[in-house]
Order: sequence, then C-alpha cells, then structure tokens
Amino acid sequence: MSAPAPAVHATPAGADAAQRPAAALEVRGLTVHYGHIEAVRGIDMALEPGGITALVGANGAGKSTTLLALSGLLPKVSGSVIFEGEDITRLAPHQIVARGIVQVPEGRAILTTMTVRENLELGAYRRGNSGTPKDFDYVFALFPRLKERLDGVAGNLSGGEQQMLAIARALMAKPRLLLLDEPSMGLAPIVVQEIFRALRSINADGLTLFLVEQNVRQALKIAQRGYVLENGSMALSGSGKELLNHPRVLQAYLGV
Ligand SMILES: Nc1ncnc2c1ncn2[C@@H]1O[C@H](COP(=O)(O)OP(=O)(O)OP(=O)(O)O)[C@@H](O)[C@H]1O
Ligand SMILES: [Mg+2]
Repeated sequence: MSAPAPAVHATPAGADAAQRPAAALEVRGLTVHYGHIEAVRGIDMALEPGGITALVGANGAGKSTTLLALSGLLPKVSGSVIFEGEDITRLAPHQIVARGIVQVPEGRAILTTMTVRENLELGAYRRGNSGTPKDFDYVFALFPRLKERLDGVAGNLSGGEQQMLAIARALMAKPRLLLLDEPSMGLAPIVVQEIFRALRSINADGLTLFLVEQNVRQALKIAQRGYVLENGSMALSGSGKELLNHPRVLQAYLGV
C-alpha cells in the first residue's frame, strides 16, 4: 500500500472554529485493519449536527470500512469516536444502534422474501414496536411508491425502490444519525436524483446525515462538508462547494 498522503485542508483548520457547533460525531485517528491490511489509517472527521457530511473516494478507498467501524461491525485498531459527547469507541453494534446511529448498508440489504411492510416493521424493531401509523406516513410521503407496493415482496422492487425501502426502513428506527453507504450505486441518473431529493428532505427535517459515495459530484453538491478518502487516508477536507472546485477533485473524480 502507498504511504498515506498528508491531508490538505481547503480551509485553514480552526478558521471558523469559534462559530462551529460541537460535532454530532467526532472521529479522531481512526485506524481499521483486515488482518495485516491497513484499510483505514488514522482518519479524522467531524460531523456537524443537523448537517450533511459526505465521505467520497474511489473504489477500495476505505469508505465502507469506515462506516462499518463507526457502526461497531469492524473493530477499531486505534482512534476514538465520540457521539453527542459520549465516547462510543468500544461499544457493540447494538449499543451503537441504541444511541440512534443507524446504517443503510452498501447493497441495501433488504429482506427480499419479506413484504415491503414487513421490512418497514423490522426497521422500527429497535424501538420495541412495529412502527406507528405516523412513522409509515412519514416514509410514504418521502417515497410514495413504497405505499403502492406495501404488500408486495421486496425482492420484486426495482433497484431504486429497494434503495428507497432501505432508507425508509432505517428511518423507521427514528435515528439521530443516518449513515448511508453509496445509496446511488447502480441506479439510473433520474432515480439517483429522486434519492438525493429525499435525502435533502430528510435532512431538512432535522436528521444528521453521513453520506458515503463514489458519486462525488452529487454527494458534494448536497453536503455542507466533505472528506476525500484515498487509499485509506484522508486526502482532502472542506466545504462541499470548496471540494467541488478543488483542482485535485476536479481532476481525479470529476474528469475535468
Ligand atoms: N473483508 C475484507 N477482507 C480483506 N480486505 C478487505 C475486506 N473488505 C475490504 N477490504 C479491502 O479494504 C480496502 C477498503 O475497502 P472498502 O470496501 O472499505 O472500500 P470502499 O471505499 O467502500 O470501496 P467501494 O466504493 O468499492 O465500495 C480495499 O483495499 C479492500 O480490498
Ligand atoms: Mg464500499
């Protein structure tokens, strides 16, 4: 593996620290290994409460590894994770979910032999019920197609609808922080637009989002803050807008 590149900050670190609210999630020096492979190396991130933060990077950069470690599904070799002031570094996955950190995994991972309704009910499980009518109404307003397909088997949904279901299922858990792993993957551009519109709307309703994407342009467009991961190291950070105009991002990810 290549040596980690030094992180380049599009804005001087701490320049606006005085105005910046305390982070919803603060990651310091996170390192994650697969055996002897160092997949994520000492990365730092701060997610603003109520904001959209994007983590972008190429295939194999370490994005999913980062998310899995944040959810407690992969062990952290070193570093710390603070959520709303609490150190959650060593908590088990179910304890992390109980804090309100819910992940929409890569590849959706919906239960294809179950109905749309059953998938949604399972989403509410962590709250000890199968979802209130209000919860269902909220996700139907976001994704009307799920209402139309409610009693159909989830495996019969299109790829876009399955992604909608995966997001809706996570919302049924009433998260405080939603982690999304490549929600645009494999979807037609028009469906990607639909998903991103829904993400904006969810965020406008107050939910903090952490969006992992290979679709660098779309992700940085909706994110207030972005991070660029390269070979397991943080290469760049800045506002979404700054990164969209950064020469390295333009050249390496946007083909400009
Ligand atoms: N289970 C595993 N065992 C060993 N190495 C792994 C495993 N999963 C991922 N890796 C390696 O860790 C690195 C980071 O992978 P990761 O899946 O986090 O990348 P990613 O940024 O999510 O990529 P993509 O955009 O393709 O999903 C890659 O080099 C990958 O080959
Ligand atoms: Mg991935």
